[in-house]
Amino acid sequence: MNKPTTNGLAGVIAGETSICTVGKDGIGLNYRGYSIHDLAMYATFEEVAFLMLYGKLPTQAELDQYCALLKSMRGLPESLKRVLENIPGEAHPMDMLRTGCSFLGTIEPETSGRDHDVIASRLLACFPSMILYWHHFHTRGTKIETQTDAPTIASHFLNLLHNAPVSKLVNRLLDVSLILYAEHEFNASTFALRVTTATLSDFYSGITSAIGALRGPLHGGANEAAMELIEQFDTPEQAEVGIKAMLAEKKKIMGFGHRVYTVSDPRTDIIKQWAKRIAQETGDTRLIPVSERIEKVMWEQKKLFANLDFYSASAYSMAGIPTPLFTPLFVVSRTAGWAAHIIEQRVNNRHLQKLPKLSPD
Ligand code: COA
Repeated sequence: MNKPTTNGLAGVIAGETSICTVGKDGIGLNYRGYSIHDLAMYATFEEVAFLMLYGKLPTQAELDQYCALLKSMRGLPESLKRVLENIPGEAHPMDMLRTGCSFLGTIEPETSGRDHDVIASRLLACFPSMILYWHHFHTRGTKIETQTDAPTIASHFLNLLHNAPVSKLVNRLLDVSLILYAEHEFNASTFALRVTTATLSDFYSGITSAIGALRGPLHGGANEAAMELIEQFDTPEQAEVGIKAMLAEKKKIMGFGHRVYTVSDPRTDIIKQWAKRIAQETGDTRLIPVSERIEKVMWEQKKLFANLDFYSASAYSMAGIPTPLFTPLFVVSRTAGWAAHIIEQRVNNRHLQKLPKLSPD
């Protein structure tokens, strides 16, 4: 009898995609041929979302039109608000998003009148609204208006969170972070979504599967776990002692290591620079020195490098984002990549494609 292996998904070839290339030579990351460095430097998240969905960067006119469309889609239906109000405040916001997405699929189902790119845009626009409607309802007892006029998805999220405009730097930090999280080929959540999509299921089921997979601490949940780790230490010296003790006990250090990258995570340097800029702006003198010491110890002891989640954690924290909202922000961003994978799977699926009629009429 064959012995069971302990390899998880290692070695499972999930498929091929033209959306993204990860870890070429152990280091690079490109979205539809554009390097992540160029996109983080020159693009906005809305441009990247357009690139994912339509396969090319938008012209200025297309971008203006797309941003206007996204803006118009931020409002939440009353019945969805009631559902969000009924999800306990103690629930994890990822569970709330999974349910919110699934519920939206029942009141705005995928029918022939609603194209999949429109559903993708709707989810991109209203996931931040769902997160913050639920957050404020359960933390402050207020029912906020989510149809805001903020120019970008990042500023929409931050304005709703803080109930006030935030600095340009913090807005751009979140925008860049959404770009960095937007796509990563056949990772676990995308694989889950591809499997669901391959059965000719609907768009919302694909995204809901992906949210469930992303929730795990070895995947999207790592940024929250990294923050919980960093917060334990007041000084770099404490961090060094603490991390060495954890390694001696063979504990996992969250925010380190990667399944594909072997040398470094190409996104880490970018987000680290942004974390340092935010530290300067906010006057925070603790999180970066502690994080850098952890990074140094991990490299010296294990030759493991910080992944995107590690410095995203301190950057988000300094931007005033509560830790439980870190992974939901990952969802906001990755919805762009997931949507592109649904569309690509449908185009290339073995069994095509006429979607089952989902509405009763
Ligand atoms: N902390 C401590 N040790 C780690 C580690 C970490 N974060 N990541 C890997 N290791 C160890 C492994 O246990 C293994 O040790 P061993 O040889 O004694 O068994 C060794 O380093 C090599 O592991 P590797 O094969 O490179 O990693 P993997 O492919 O098994 O796992 C991850 C990849 C991402 C699941 C793993 O690095 C991890 O759990 N990281 C923390 C969670 C995280 O940050 N996830 C987000 C990823 S973007």
